[in-house]
Amino acid sequence: MCETRAVLGLLCETDPRWAVAAANDVGRILVDHAHCEMKAASNALALSTRCVDFPNVLDGLVALAEEELTHFRQVLAELRRRNLALGPPEEDWYAAELRRRSSKARERHDKAEFVITDRLVVGALIEARSCERFKLLRDYLKDQDPSLSAFYGELLASEARHYRTFLDMALEVSGDAAYVEQRHQAIAQIEESVVRSLSSAPTIHG
Ligand SMILES: [Fe+2]
Ligand SMILES: [Fe+2]
Repeated sequence: MCETRAVLGLLCETDPRWAVAAANDVGRILVDHAHCEMKAASNALALSTRCVDFPNVLDGLVALAEEELTHFRQVLAELRRRNLALGPPEEDWYAAELRRRSSKARERHDKAEFVITDRLVVGALIEARSCERFKLLRDYLKDQDPSLSAFYGELLASEARHYRTFLDMALEVSGDAAYVEQRHQAIAQIEESVVRSLSSAPTIHG
């Protein structure tokens, strides 16, 4: 298993054709990336409102939303440096499908904690996949666009940290490490099947 997968708990690697397509269309990647950061911020805030009984998790999600907004501003600045307009968001089929299939496969619905735990584990895996893809962008853009390569090198560390943060929050909500591990494994399998259906379009989760 490669280092990225072992650290991030992913069960498959991104098709290398995605990295080639992404490196060939950095404008579309940056526009989509900006929207991904904004969606990450709004998802964290939406989830925080369901975590009022878990003050540490509430605080963690609000802090995460602030950091994702900072990332949004950074990507927006990168777009403006390149005289590129933000443009409308594209559909994020990967994230929507991962949420849909995970929700359908949820084993326990009897307490809000189980639903929140699953949503936090889904959040962890989206961060993990984004981290893996930022690493590919860093590597594939090294010669072609050194400053953008360095930008992705900085951001991938945040995404790896967010992966851990989401899992820590899932543990705090469920209070059961074995249960979080079990849900992580089950949702990672769903994530793998979603990733294997992707078409390698030049978007962050394409
Ligand atoms: Fe981010
Ligand atoms: Fe993130």
